[in-house]
Amino acid sequence: MSQRTLVLLKPDAVKRGLVGNILARYEAKGLSIVALEQRVIDAALSDRHYADHVDKDFYPPLRDFVTSGPLVAVVFEGDEAIAVVRELNGATDGRKAVPGSIRGDLSLSNRENLVHGSDSEESAAREIALWFPGLA
Ligand code: RTP
Ligand code: MG
Repeated sequence: MSQRTLVLLKPDAVKRGLVGNILARYEAKGLSIVALEQRVIDAALSDRHYADHVDKDFYPPLRDFVTSGPLVAVVFEGDEAIAVVRELNGATDGRKAVPGSIRGDLSLSNRENLVHGSDSEESAAREIALWFPGLA
């Protein structure tokens, strides 16, 4: 079943010059780019994106991190895109993510873990509408 999902290449990915490396992995898997934009977000957009996490202890430093510099937001499309992206991303904690995954190969952090991927069809629809309101 073809799906769309929202991916963020977080500010650490941009600062480290890993945008091309990471995009290439999704593209090589067979996912198509539907929309892509580099932008700097403010705290209000972070709060809306991470609505499920705003009350958690780890959220204030996460908000500081995701608003710290440019990030790249992407909508990918493909068969089972939501689960496929989560598998490519690897476990949240880069120190534990398996080699071969983006975080497993490139991140040594639980916070600065390079990428975000929508975690369900509901999240994908909500996040795509939030980040790319003009997208049909
Ligand atoms: P994401 O939403 O970014 O795709 O990552 P995820 O589903 O694997 O992880 P989630 O539980 O949704 O957490 C969102 C982001 O918050 C940061 N985080 N820090 N204990 C901590 O310090 C902690 N836990 C999570 C990470 O940047 C994570 O991706
Ligand atoms: Mg998540």
